Amino acid sequence: MQDLALYSAYLEKEIKAIDFPQSPANLYEPLRYFLSLGGKRMRPILTLLGAELFGEPKENALSAALSVEVFHNFTLIHDDIMDEAPLRRNKETVHTKWNQNIAILSGDVLFVKGYQLLVKQRPEHLQPLIELFNKTAIEVCEGQQMDMDFETRKDVSIDEYIEMIRLKTSVLLGCALEMGAVIGNATESDRKHIYNFGQNIGIAFQIQDDILDLFADPDKFGKQVGGDVISNKKTLLNLQAFLLASEEQKQILEKLSVERNSELKIEETKSLYEKIGARASCEKEMENYHAKAMTSLEAITVNDNAKETLIELANFLMNREL
Ligand code: IPE
Ligand code: IPE
Ligand code: MG
Ligand code: MG
Ligand code: MG
Repeated sequence: MQDLALYSAYLEKEIKAIDFPQSPANLYEPLRYFLSLGGKRMRPILTLLGAELFGEPKENALSAALSVEVFHNFTLIHDDIMDEAPLRRNKETVHTKWNQNIAILSGDVLFVKGYQLLVKQRPEHLQPLIELFNKTAIEVCEGQQMDMDFETRKDVSIDEYIEMIRLKTSVLLGCALEMGAVIGNATESDRKHIYNFGQNIGIAFQIQDDILDLFADPDKFGKQVGGDVISNKKTLLNLQAFLLASEEQKQILEKLSVERNSELKIEETKSLYEKIGARASCEKEMENYHAKAMTSLEAITVNDNAKETLIELANFLMNREL
């Protein structure tokens, strides 16, 4: 963990140095607030590690790393509006602390800030970097729309769910890593392998996020526990529960989906998912994607020692509590 802590301390300092004007205060204050709340900073770490894997000093990938983190924070501010989430990183969400319009507009600025940071990279890398960033940003929006569409659908398949989380979450991890690889002048084929590593880690990461959303310790998690259940999100837990449930259990789950008492809805759903074995089967699926990620990592044509920190980060993400 020593290694990873060094990367996040380095990034934290650089994120703090991102400068916003004082006025209009209602546009920029929410951004200073949100970026100061911390977070795991896992995506920019991936960019730095991606560059280092191909022999490039991390400092040369800093702007790209910051752009990915800034973009991620933009998606979180808007995601919290869409999900009506009250808490993020243990503090009030921007639309709760200010209001929805402020959260939309300050989020928009952050999106553009991501480009301002990215174009600081060396000119010869800009075309592939911007192409990757653009493709990823559109895919994240596609995933977010699917996530919302699924709330009111009852026939979402596991494949559709995996595609939805691939888009809303995993492509950004792949992008973060591939940006590092572009900056490190990796070959096309190594770029693909590192992207696939990120994508599979990202799928495992989002499955874990779904599990934590219901089963995390509220004191550690920093987000509202049970938010996915309240809004009837089609998480892997939910889909697996319906696949594994008896007829009687299915009827109870259907009834719970229209239950108005949130506390009751969360508690009953949680114990039923556990009883049905949905949690255990999600954990197994998460392990499967983690293993797939390791296969992609093995295919990259660099020395095994160089891969160790990435393996460490992947393991940390599978065992996290927040
Ligand atoms: C939250 O991402 C959004 C998801 C894709 C689940 P993180 O869990 O990486 O959030 P922070 O940046 O550490 O707060
Ligand atoms: C968020 O998924 C994905 C993006 C922000 C693009 P979630 O809605 O599950 O993320 P959390 O749980 O709010 O962090
Ligand atoms: Mg959310
Ligand atoms: Mg969401
Ligand atoms: Mg979530």
